[in-house]
Amino acid sequence: MKLNILVLPGDGIGPEVTSEAVRVLEHVSAKWGHELNLTDGLLGGIAIHKTGSPFPADTREKALAADATLLGAVGSPEFDDLPPAQRPEKGLLGIRKALDVFANLRPVQAFESLLDSSPLKNEIVRGADILIVRELTGGLYFGQPRGIEMVDGEETVTNSMVYKRSEIERVLRMAFKLAQGRRKHLTSVDKANVLENSQLWRKIANEIALEFPDVKLEHVLVDNCAMQLILRPTSFDVIVTENLFGDILSDEASVLAGSIGMLPSASIGDPLPSGAWRGLYEPVHGSAPDIAGQKKANPLAAIGSAAAMLNYSFGLKEEAAEIEAAMQTVMTSGKVTADLRPKGTPATTEEVGKAVCAAIG
Ligand code: IPM
Ligand code: MG
Repeated sequence: MKLNILVLPGDGIGPEVTSEAVRVLEHVSAKWGHELNLTDGLLGGIAIHKTGSPFPADTREKALAADATLLGAVGSPEFDDLPPAQRPEKGLLGIRKALDVFANLRPVQAFESLLDSSPLKNEIVRGADILIVRELTGGLYFGQPRGIEMVDGEETVTNSMVYKRSEIERVLRMAFKLAQGRRKHLTSVDKANVLENSQLWRKIANEIALEFPDVKLEHVLVDNCAMQLILRPTSFDVIVTENLFGDILSDEASVLAGSIGMLPSASIGDPLPSGAWRGLYEPVHGSAPDIAGQKKANPLAAIGSAAAMLNYSFGLKEEAAEIEAAMQTVMTSGKVTADLRPKGTPATTEEVGKAVCAAIG
């Protein structure tokens, strides 16, 4: 199979972890006889430096032409004082919107070999296996009007949480389908006791539930969900929620997996007319400027994202499963980076990537 992939290393630890994900993709392609066609592009802070824009037109064109995009991370403290429109993160939001990848799938698993890496008690995290489906192209991140202006002589700020019915329907339907392929339990998270946004979300969830009689739908308020994730994480199967809630809950849930360096993600939309699934694959963690360039970053989230790419965009389920099995072997061997608090000397980013390739064989 021909795999046309755009690679956007981005900022901070992005290039380091992406290199290891590419190493694994190259290894798997060689082993299974796939033709890997990699193109590089600029996104985020590095794109601002080289082109003046966080999401240059060249990157947009390449992303639309590729079968899938692998992204490292964006963001850098040097841009901290700039308004949102001029920041590296704007590039990330831009590419998500351009590709129309409205569903961001963030699996969180408490791997047996990493239970001690979690600050939570083993008996609480053991067995946790959650898929967070985060709406990715709507809500507060994109809603208009927005901005800071003077009203009655006072600085006043507005952000708008805007959703069209169709945007809510499509992500909920995706989440129901995903739940059907898992333990058939869907938790829809909202703030329906306060927000009209959530009231419409809840109503639509109840309507779509009729299409999926085999899936048990439950509604949980976001504040309660934040607590339940830590109190009884094993009670969740698939969680679906709007953009900002999903952003916050997925960072929280990463504690179950031991480290945010473990969380991969796949952002997908509806299939293209050709039948292809053009996705965007990125670790959940950010650019971690504090450890950039120190060979400390955990590449497993990036490698897991590459596995998700083979699975969702190319339908290469066996290859994806091999990568995931190899990741487990490496975790069990203890050859992991410092964020996972290994007993011995922590491994470097590159050592973990090479170990995953070796475990694939
Ligand atoms: C994430 C990140 C991004 C987001 C930032 C970097 C804009 O936190 O992917 O979770 O909020 O979506
Ligand atoms: Mg986030």
